[in-house]
Amino acid sequence: MNRRNLLAAAAAALVAGASPVAAQTYPTRPITMIIPFAAGGPTDVVARIVAESMSRNLGQAIVIENVSGAGGTTGSTRLTTQAADGYSIMIGHTGTHAASVALYPNLRYHPVNDFAPIGLVNTNAILITAKNALPANNLAEFVAWLKANERNANNAHAGIGSVSHTTCLLLNSIIGVNPQTVPYRGTGPAMNDLVAGQVDYLCDQVVNVAPQVRAGTIKAFAVAQQQRNPALPNVPTTVEAGLPGYQVVVWNAMLAPKGTPEAVVTRLNEALRAALADPNVKSRLAELGADLPTDVQATPAGLRAFLESEIARWTPVIKAAGVTATN
Ligand code: MLT
Repeated sequence: MNRRNLLAAAAAALVAGASPVAAQTYPTRPITMIIPFAAGGPTDVVARIVAESMSRNLGQAIVIENVSGAGGTTGSTRLTTQAADGYSIMIGHTGTHAASVALYPNLRYHPVNDFAPIGLVNTNAILITAKNALPANNLAEFVAWLKANERNANNAHAGIGSVSHTTCLLLNSIIGVNPQTVPYRGTGPAMNDLVAGQVDYLCDQVVNVAPQVRAGTIKAFAVAQQQRNPALPNVPTTVEAGLPGYQVVVWNAMLAPKGTPEAVVTRLNEALRAALADPNVKSRLAELGADLPTDVQATPAGLRAFLESEIARWTPVIKAAGVTATN
């Protein structure tokens, strides 16, 4: 970099609040990654797989901090209060960074304007799952059971605005039921209670569902997509199972606080894309049924555009369901 460019970079970095040397030598200490749900859930599992590979690429530890509550908006708000120096990042998702806009009238952040998007991490299918003791062996029987037992049925989720909440909100409205819902601090603990038979059903991400279905500890009636998921080839799609209107894909995104220097965002994006190309990461995510983002989605600009389109997509869906976090 010649003297003129270095001076320009220094000026830009000073404006962005970080010294050019700091941006050029980043990272020089461990990075905190906020996961806005309890440990053991899909967001946490995907984050730890990717963070492990990123930390090797960056040469610094990535320390996971689970900050749960309010459907993931507590942890997302926490990130916006951290220094924009690259040492605090997070994994958000469809709930925290798209559905939350319509669900939380007093949301204390804007999913795009208050963050520095780093890149999309993965997309996930959603499955309709139930406790083994539920007297239904396919989706049609489950729908019939749910309609007949609506008042006593317990639908678990990870808090208003979580993916498990919004995707079952969609399912319940398509079926035309309004069951009791049971909030958890993540679908890790929710899944534990589904396996234990303490709750009746859960709309959850394939990365959390696949190990349980393979172990036979829960039932999965259908995957809400056009194609079956390679990790669960025996689970029919909602199209095959007679509920074609229920198709939904969710995603995880990596973000830093607004104002994080561009050179730092670029370095984090490089580490993310290296992790997504890591054979070990690819095989572990594939085994869990997750899909990798497109090359464009995995860039900061691509993620920004994707978030804006997802907010526009989910807002009318949530408004049509007539649900907000305050009602
Ligand atoms: C959700 O939104 O349901 C979350 O993915 C749950 C979790 O990751 O624990």
